[in-house]
Amino acid sequence: MSQVLVVDHPMVQDRLTAIRRVSTDSGAFRQHMSAVAAMLFYEAARILPVSKETIETPLQPMQAPVLKTGLVLVSVLRAGLGFLDGILPSLPTARVGYLGLARNPKTLAAESYYANLPKIIPEDQVFVLDPMLATGHTVIQALKQVEAAGARHIHLVTLLASPEGVANVQKEFPAVRIVTASIDTALNHKGYIVPGLGDAGDRLYGTLGH
Ligand code: URA
Repeated sequence: MSQVLVVDHPMVQDRLTAIRRVSTDSGAFRQHMSAVAAMLFYEAARILPVSKETIETPLQPMQAPVLKTGLVLVSVLRAGLGFLDGILPSLPTARVGYLGLARNPKTLAAESYYANLPKIIPEDQVFVLDPMLATGHTVIQALKQVEAAGARHIHLVTLLASPEGVANVQKEFPAVRIVTASIDTALNHKGYIVPGLGDAGDRLYGTLGH
């Protein structure tokens, strides 16, 4: 069964509360999303393997830790972009992929409209970024595409999850580690997480009501 890490750090939880508030406008929503993504990724990346390299400091040589493997970030459009903004600046060597997946409002099934993944080798550590793990359909489709591209070490970084979404991912991808700020109560009949934060993409990009 995949591990689930709920990051209960007060700074993460405070940002999440700001993001949830209906009164938070798109500009503030983007800033909070970016900040919380950096903190969640920091926790998600704690398990990254390091190796030692001999370097020269101005004073003497030393054996110093460096990240051992390649890093790949895969942003699930649209809301994953709001996450990527906060993470990418601290990862100069990461390769980045994009998966466009829209959920069919009637069936809630994930439909792919765009895919652009970098070359992935089995040693790479691959982080799939999607702030919302609702039914799990979208994330499972993304995980399938990433696995088909060669990923063997896959982590899912999400802001909010539903119990159903976590269970569905665990069933299909027991080896994928899930990092989230909260597992909320449930899904409503439209597939929204409750209490949730509404539609993450719409709130990020000011497209509510379109
Ligand atoms: N996607 C969202 O943006 N919000 C939800 O609550 C569920 C899926």
